[in-house]
Amino acid sequence: MTDFIPVARTSDIPPGQVRYFDLLGAPIAICHVEDGGFYAIDDECTHDGGSLNQGELDEDQIECPRHGARFNVRTGAVITLPATLPLHTYPVRIEGNQILVNPIPNPVVRR
Ligand code: FES
Repeated sequence: MTDFIPVARTSDIPPGQVRYFDLLGAPIAICHVEDGGFYAIDDECTHDGGSLNQGELDEDQIECPRHGARFNVRTGAVITLPATLPLHTYPVRIEGNQILVNPIPNPVVRR
């Protein structure tokens, strides 16, 4: 069983912002949705590898900066084309002011 890994402080990611992190060699993006939730997703768009940490976070949706695909950051599900495959999401735990992420992804959600 893999443990949660501390990756950032909550203050490192303001509400509505996204930051890139290396999680045991895997690129992830942590999204701070304005309702206060933190969500971890693959940083690579499933369409053609765009860096999602460079995308726009709009409530719980992120838009890829390359061709505009949108994903739900809570579930990884595709909202709009051209992406057709969902993102992996990762369990997040908050302990004090630390954001911890489990490198074992959540089950994939297609819709
Ligand atoms: S690489 Fe993300 S929409 Fe094309």
